[in-house]
Formats: sequence, C-alpha cells, structure tokens
Amino acid sequence: MSQSHFPDDFVWGVATAAYQIEGAVDEDGRAPSIWDTFSHTPGTTTNGDTGDVACDHYHRWQEDIRLMRNLGIQAYRFSIAWPRVVPQGTGQVNGRGLDFYDRLVDGLLDANITPFVTLYHWDLPQALQNRGGWADRATVDAFVAYAEAVVRRLGDRVTHWITHNEPWVVSFVGNYEGRHAPGIQDLRTALQVAHHLLLSHGLVVPLLRSASASARVGITLNLSPAHAATSSPEDQAAAGRLDGNLNRWFLDPLYGRGYPEDMVARYGALMPQLAADDLARIAVPTDFLGINYYFPTIVRALPSGAEPLGFAPLSRDELATAGHDVTEMGWPVVPEGLTELLTRIHREYAPGAIYITENGAAIHDRVVDGTVHDPRRIAYLHGHTDAARQAIAAGAPLRGYFLWSLMDNFEWGFGYSKRFGIVYIDYGTQARIPKSSAAWYQRVIAANAVVNAGEL
Ligand code: FCB
Repeated sequence: MSQSHFPDDFVWGVATAAYQIEGAVDEDGRAPSIWDTFSHTPGTTTNGDTGDVACDHYHRWQEDIRLMRNLGIQAYRFSIAWPRVVPQGTGQVNGRGLDFYDRLVDGLLDANITPFVTLYHWDLPQALQNRGGWADRATVDAFVAYAEAVVRRLGDRVTHWITHNEPWVVSFVGNYEGRHAPGIQDLRTALQVAHHLLLSHGLVVPLLRSASASARVGITLNLSPAHAATSSPEDQAAAGRLDGNLNRWFLDPLYGRGYPEDMVARYGALMPQLAADDLARIAVPTDFLGINYYFPTIVRALPSGAEPLGFAPLSRDELATAGHDVTEMGWPVVPEGLTELLTRIHREYAPGAIYITENGAAIHDRVVDGTVHDPRRIAYLHGHTDAARQAIAAGAPLRGYFLWSLMDNFEWGFGYSKRFGIVYIDYGTQARIPKSSAAWYQRVIAANAVVNAGEL
C-alpha cells in the first residue's frame, strides 16, 4: 500500500435514509411514521419542510442507481422504511412496501453496487408511538418481527445489515432535547428508549444470521471525540460526561461492559428498567461497527444543577472565534478527530471491522451556469478520507467509507435548508446535478487513493 492508497478490498460508498429521500409518503400502503407527524407539526422544521416529496427517490430510484454507477460507487447504504413494510408497526406485513426494496436491491446488484441495509433510520410507525414508542418494551418485539419480514424477503441477496442508525440521536435528540421526532423532553424516557434500542439490536443480530447465512451484521453509532473547551478541571470533567453520555453509554454495553458506572451514578433514579439478561443480549458479537463521524464535540461545564448532564457544546460563534472552520451546520471541521476516534475505538473496544457509515459536510451550494462548484466540501472530504487512511496505517480495521450523502435531502429539523449531497437536487424540478465533489469522489474511487482537487 503506497502512502496515499487504501487497501485493495476497501469499499467506497454513499449513504442515504428512507425518510430523507423517498417521498411518496402515502403510496403503496405506507402509513405515517413519527417523522410525518413531527414535520407536519408547526414550528418543528425550518420553513415547515416535510419529507412528503423529498427527492422523489421512490419514483426516481433507477435514475439514482445510474448516477451511482456512473460515479463508480461500490456500495450503497440506504434504510428501509418500517411504515412501508409493517404500516401499523405490528401485524400485517405490506408486500407492496417490500416490493420497492426488492426492486431496489436487484437494481443495485445489476449495477454492481453492494447494498448495505439499515433497518431503523428513525421512521418509527406512528401507530407504535401512540402506544409509547421505543419507551415501551413491546416496541422491541415489534422491531424483531419487522426485521424478520425484511430479512425473509431480502436476505437471499443482501449481505450487509445495520440494525440501528445512531441510537444516541434517536434517544437523546428525540426524547430528551425534543428537537427530533417524537419531540419528547424527558431524560428518563430517553434512557429507557436507548436501552430498548440496544436490546432490539441484540435480538435482531442472531435473527438476521439465522435467516441469512451470509449476513454480516453491525450497528451504526454517532461517535465524537469529547474535547474540553479549556484545561480547567471543571471543563475536563464535563468532557468526561459528554464522552459517557454520547460514546461510552452505547459502546460499553455493546462490547460487554454494561453501562458505564460514572454515568449510572449520575443518572441515578433515572436509570432505565433492565430485565435480567438484557445486558448479555446487547453484548452479542457483531461483524462490524459502523461509525458516523462529522466533528469532535468541544464542551464546557455548566454550573451544577443547571442541566442534568452538566455540559454545553461551544456555539458556532465560539468555535469560529477559537479559529475553527465551521460548516453550514455550525460543526467544526477537524479531520484529525476522525483519526483520533478510529484509533481509540480500535484500542479500547477492538471491533473486528469498522465502516465509516457516514461522513460529509453541509455547504451553501449554488447552481451557476448549470454547475455546482463546491471546493469547501471537497476540502472537507479530502481531509477526512486522508484521516481515515492514517487510522488504517495505525492499525484500525477500517474496511470502507460511506459519504453522506449521495444527494441533497431532507435534513430532519433543518428541512431542505442544509445540503449534504455530492449531487445537487433542484427541488422545483427534481433535476439531479452532480457537484464538483462528485467528480472528485469518482477519481478517489478509481484511484483507490486520496487525490487532490487539483485539476477539477
Ligand atoms: C446524521 C444522520 C443522517 C444525516 C446526517 C447529516 O446524524 O444519521 O441522517 O442527517 O447526520
């Protein structure tokens, strides 16, 4: 392997998620998810945007596969919409919902693109939320039944499975901060949700394996190096709590260590209810860990009693003042954070394989003379792919990289105001315009190496 090259079997992919791209929210038997309800609730998303139409991928999937094939994309990470497959959350399986993914998988395989399927990327059937959602243990069983319906249909062709996408975001952003569906603000609920997500992962891993002999199964976590804003003991301790809340709360139980004691003590009476063998089930061995990395989180301590977790991330202005380049999301651009994270995970948890299942940047893109030139995104991607390569050189078992995202899409609470794609979407016409970052990525894949933006 030369200095800038990746291992021969390294996988280059792109990622999306169902609610962010599909649209067609009431077609072929799909029922509402919590994101339909949430986005249609006034005041929840920028401009009141919803996923009703999104990128219309449900009708344009063939064009989207052609786009990927033209770029040389080797793997495509997408999610399956539970409310298409089991519209009421439990009970009747909707064959027409599965038909869509059946065709998509065949189309990908025909194009020589390996599907990586995420079972849960946040679109819980609303019918289940009405009965308590992920805070209710019965939702774990519902998820198992849904996963079984999916693997029965697709397990003869899909080999790579991700149970959950970012359980921290689902539990804490959805149920403690309330910025995401279902919009609950209660720490106890968030902790119970997190536990049920992990438990459902633990139950679905063996199910996928028994239904599909070739299945390689993992979970995707959003992980972030926890940095203190200053060297004061208070801020250092705050960074430890952030790490406990965001990273260790999920990694420790998944890798057989149970919930981290410092955080158990902090959560105290808010700790979730656990049944006797839950932790053993959660610790089921997996084939890989999926990591979504965007930025390190820099925190300062809050005065005790101000907020239960006792830390606050630096604001966009504070980051800029400290000299950080920040993206449209207000996230600092720190490629070294990815090397730091990957080497730490390798050292402390030793997963057999790691995939970066998301990494990318929201940039304010504009169409000029029919083209979109996005040098800031290219610089971000260049820095991060190179950081990934350095982690491999340091021994991390990184097997692939999925860029977020193939195309601009519904960025949750920010609606369509944030563009993460390497393909621009004109939401008025649904025209797809590959940005210059798409041409850059095509060259990276062809070279299997980090290439300069140089002659673009
Ligand atoms: C991650 C989500 C993904 C996308 C990116 C920008 O948290 O998994 O759906 O919104 O952030």
